[in-house]
Amino acid sequence: MGNGAIAAGLAASLASEDETALVKHFAAMPEEERARLTKAMDSLGYSAGRRILIIFGPPGGGKGTYGEKIINKLGVPGLSTGDMLREAVAAGTELGLKAKSVMESGGFVDDAIIVSLITERIKQPDCAKGFMLDGFPRTVEQAGKLDEALGALGESVNMVLALEVPDDVLTVRICGRWVHKESGRSYHIKNKRPKSLPEGEKATEENMKDDETGEPLMRRADDTEETLGKRLKAYYEKTTPILDYWAKAGIVKKVEADDTKGKTMDDIWKSIEALL
Ligand code: AP5
Repeated sequence: MGNGAIAAGLAASLASEDETALVKHFAAMPEEERARLTKAMDSLGYSAGRRILIIFGPPGGGKGTYGEKIINKLGVPGLSTGDMLREAVAAGTELGLKAKSVMESGGFVDDAIIVSLITERIKQPDCAKGFMLDGFPRTVEQAGKLDEALGALGESVNMVLALEVPDDVLTVRICGRWVHKESGRSYHIKNKRPKSLPEGEKATEENMKDDETGEPLMRRADDTEETLGKRLKAYYEKTTPILDYWAKAGIVKKVEADDTKGKTMDDIWKSIEALL
């Protein structure tokens, strides 16, 4: 369909007040034209569809930490494939049994399994206004499948927010992280201490408690220096090519998320917030 035909189709369906026809014309537009229109409407403060955001970054980059703030601000759910898989492992489901050893070794769970997990999840009613993906996609193949699934609904990813942090900082973060299993809330023995950890005391299972529920915090089985090396290798080899894949659409926004060179965690949040 040429630009003239697109404009005429849109104008006719607007004039007829037929919303189904309008949606049909929008979905039938070539992807590039649809992305331009969506971007123009977004820049004017109108949303042409669901808010679809990806928080992207290396293990320990702060996806869970800043992701929680983003979903609270936007009022959309956060879908973390890591959390979904950990829940499946804890529940001992068939998926959990398949995922457990792969996750503990720092590898990736099979693309097909993850893609069907997410494409089903984004159809749920709580995703009506949009959603934020965390930990997905992790391979160019997963990114392509996501585009396909969204394209079939006349939608596309609005923004990929990429957190950048050097490897040495990631090691410190991962090795000092404790998490609240139920909510996924993440703490750190230095950078984000729970209220229960007295100043100057070493972290133990007794004094590491969730701020909101008072329940015990735990260490993740894959949060060791050795496994982190494998997770980083997989990240650079298989995950970062996704940024090139989406760069063409102009939706990748990079944020320096290193707190060791004068920026505080609050400064980093302000840079992220300005992009939302
Ligand atoms: P997943 O759970 O997604 O793990 P990950 O990508 O390795 O990321 P993390 O959760 O470790 O880090 P994060 O960026 O959320 O950091 P956080 O905010 O906690 O995946 C786990 C495994 O599941 C994978 O290895 C794979 O096996 C499997 N999997 C998942 N998705 C998959 C998929 N799509 N396909 C195939 N397999 C899949 O921060 C870390 C620490 O740093 C915290 O203690 C925090 O308090 C602190 N911190 C954060 N930001 C700052 C800051 N700015 N300054 C100081 N401290 C900070």
